[in-house]
Amino acid sequence: MNVRPNDLDAYWMPFTANRQFKAAPRIFVGAKDMYYKTADGRDVLDGIAGLWCCNAGHGRPKIVEAIQKQAAELDYSPAFQMGHYKAFELASRLAALMPGDLDHVFFTNSGSESVETALKIAIAYHRLKGEGQRVRLIGREKGYHGVNFGGMSVGGMVANRKMFGTLVAGVDHIRHTHGDARNLFSRGVPEYGAELADDLERLCALHDPSTIAACIVEPVQCSAGVILPPKGYLKRLREICDRHGILLIFDEVITGFGRLGTPFAVDFFGVEPDLVATAKGLTSGVIPMGAVFTQKHIYDTFMQGPPAAIEFFHGYTYSANPMACAAALATLDTYEEEGLLARASALSDYWADAAHALKGLPHVIDIRNLGLIAAVELESIPGQITARAYDAFLKCYEAGLLIRTTGDTIALSPPLIIEKNHIDILFDALSRVLKTIS
Ligand SMILES: Cc1ncc(COP(=O)(O)O)c(C=O)c1O
Repeated sequence: MNVRPNDLDAYWMPFTANRQFKAAPRIFVGAKDMYYKTADGRDVLDGIAGLWCCNAGHGRPKIVEAIQKQAAELDYSPAFQMGHYKAFELASRLAALMPGDLDHVFFTNSGSESVETALKIAIAYHRLKGEGQRVRLIGREKGYHGVNFGGMSVGGMVANRKMFGTLVAGVDHIRHTHGDARNLFSRGVPEYGAELADDLERLCALHDPSTIAACIVEPVQCSAGVILPPKGYLKRLREICDRHGILLIFDEVITGFGRLGTPFAVDFFGVEPDLVATAKGLTSGVIPMGAVFTQKHIYDTFMQGPPAAIEFFHGYTYSANPMACAAALATLDTYEEEGLLARASALSDYWADAAHALKGLPHVIDIRNLGLIAAVELESIPGQITARAYDAFLKCYEAGLLIRTTGDTIALSPPLIIEKNHIDILFDALSRVLKTIS
């Protein structure tokens, strides 16, 4: 039975216009495969995998069963100085899935915590290597790395930063890659702008590279509106980091676990960073969990000194929580059995055709796509940025489609179990809505 409270006041909702929402709430009461069920009994097609996370779809039997079983068998195990088998099994499976030398895994409970963990590993690593002066962190304009202080500081979304004081000291940002008119309506990775990676050289010249610990980027900047890396851009960033002894961190909280048609963006772009932050698709969003992958040489740098000494003074009460590990293992099984980590690749042409067919509709000024991600950028109403996309969001919801908007960009990123007929339904609904908004 669904509990229906008549007082919505106490819950302070995150990243939500609370008063507007509570005046006209949108409540989900169920979910199965590609669809949510609303409190008023309607089915809503999930065009954004919950919040870029339910990659295996909803209510998947193996994951549900694993969580139920785990709750009865071992509900919690202390994260510090104790272990349980599923934590080690999961780390080994993840290390095997990730290419290259990224073969050690530190568990967290969210994307934000994975980012904080990766930044802390980077700074501590340099100190252990005798380069304690490498403390600066470089992010990118328009980046989103979660909401904790480190991630917010290296992040570059203004609204997420401006209310919170001076943030972490010693952080700078390279330029974003959005806005080159030659790249408008590109299919897949855009052609122009690899040289924007050289902006890292500018910051090296300004701060001296010997003061920089790490550079963190999302391979695809999803939260800021699906901003794609130009051809060759990430490779160039890797080369600059190598030249100056700077660690490169990929924030794969969204791109990880099949979003681009490969297990990770590391595979898709053929660029190997030193650290990778993940979360979301790790458990298909069902139980909060994140994982940070590190290269072997980084892990080995920590594994020195007296064997009885704790090597890294960092961790969370719920790191490698048994329920989360069980959910993640069942999620990996589901991905494997159904070929979901490669599915975006098989569907990406059909997806791209459907997305780019919206070109020419009212207010559409750009369309971008990669793997099973797409963005439809709308021209903003002067003085009312976000209003047009928000209107589209509400109308889509009424029409039975869940989308996500950021600024005036509509972002799409469905569960990887999506079928061609769902893609048709999704873009038909969106197309009809776009024709009605003013
Ligand atoms: C790239 C990236 N990093 C970090 C985060 C933060 O993850 P969480 O909300 O799980 O803390 C997100 C969330 O959308 C993200 O997209």
